[in-house]
Amino acid sequence: MCRKAAWAELTARVTSVVDVQSKMRGFYIIISYVQKQSCIRCRKRTGADTAFLLAHSRGLLYNYKMGILYTDVNHLRKERPRMRRIGMLTSGGDCQSLNATMRGVAKSLYNMFDDVEIVGFEEGYKGLMYADYQILKPSDFSGILTRGGTILGTSRQPFKLMREPDENGLDKVEAMKHTYRKLRLECLVILGGNGSQKTANLLREEGLNIVSLPKTIDNDLWGTDMTFGFESAVNVATNAIDCIHTTAASHGRVFIVEIMGHKVGWLTLHAGIAGGADIILLPEIPYDLNVVCDALKKRSAAGKKFSILAVAEGAISKEDAALSKKELKEKKKNSIYPSIAYEIGAKISEKTGQEVRVTVPGHMQRGGEPCPYDRVLSTRLGAEAAKLIRDGEYGNMVVVRDGEITKIPLSETAGKLKYVDPKSSIIEEAKLVGISFGDE
Ligand code: F6P
Repeated sequence: MCRKAAWAELTARVTSVVDVQSKMRGFYIIISYVQKQSCIRCRKRTGADTAFLLAHSRGLLYNYKMGILYTDVNHLRKERPRMRRIGMLTSGGDCQSLNATMRGVAKSLYNMFDDVEIVGFEEGYKGLMYADYQILKPSDFSGILTRGGTILGTSRQPFKLMREPDENGLDKVEAMKHTYRKLRLECLVILGGNGSQKTANLLREEGLNIVSLPKTIDNDLWGTDMTFGFESAVNVATNAIDCIHTTAASHGRVFIVEIMGHKVGWLTLHAGIAGGADIILLPEIPYDLNVVCDALKKRSAAGKKFSILAVAEGAISKEDAALSKKELKEKKKNSIYPSIAYEIGAKISEKTGQEVRVTVPGHMQRGGEPCPYDRVLSTRLGAEAAKLIRDGEYGNMVVVRDGEITKIPLSETAGKLKYVDPKSSIIEEAKLVGISFGDE
């Protein structure tokens, strides 16, 4: 068969590149019909301009006729499309469900593409800055659905210091961009809380392809109904209150359980309600100590032998809420108490004469395994992140809204916190069952 005849036969039969690759040796091969417009070398979709496509491929496509672009099989073999590389990092305070989320992303990517490689950066943005990374294998994501912590490690790299050089004068943002480009990443998947989302948005503004995922036990990211890690932390904090319940009942004491959350009180609110706390103090609802003490006295007068307070790390009195940021900082610096729970405890004891004990579960709340709710949520969020990567929908954070997994532009959500609304129905309902928020 002459070359011309072979070509004619080929063009009549062939429907895709894969088809030709497997059957032909040494003949011309169709790369793309002009209408399809996708370059074999970099897989970029181009416009309808054939000349551009030819120039773009710089010699790989060396001829075209009848609206068909083609090269030969040998050339194609040498010029195999490069691996699709996705970077991944976990940033900020950890939570129970980071591994489950990374697994969700990775498994979906491996199922979607044959040619995907995941690059894991160690200790969050630090790994991206200093090019500390590992090439992850599918087996790295096996068996981690139930494992707390993060297989990549994490660190806090404050957003406000991102534009400041490190101790050796390194421009952190430029360094991160350099690593991204050097590794020829197609996209960077960032799992993080509020500060990390701000940096994710900064990198997006700097031209990197970013998909982010909402991590935090605080559930304080604006734009999503739920963050992964929150429900697992609620379980731990509730369990702490449950344990306190029996001992509080035996001794007839006032117990204060301090729950994580400096700026928002979701965790304290949910654990407080779930654990049957009598008083819940949140950053969003400044308390009056007299109101708190009155609530305690009322309980004693009603024959209740003990009381439990769920107090957020960031709970604030009405007087302190009236101070300026600077004054409050100064006051906290000079405080003799290790934390707010101890301060409230000392003042309650002084005012009511009741015996008070303070419990701080602390980082236990971020530890242990993810609860089933988080495992499901993480898997769903992870799969959606992979979909966004597949579809090239970068610059988004994956979120959950009304039970559906969807996305929100980072430009819209980064840097915004979701607070507990003191006028929301959950607060009203909690008050109806007799919980005091120390405000009225
Ligand atoms: O942001 C998550 C969180 O656990 C907060 O609830 C808590 O206040 C803070 O991190 C503790 O941070 P670190 O682990 O750096 O002490």
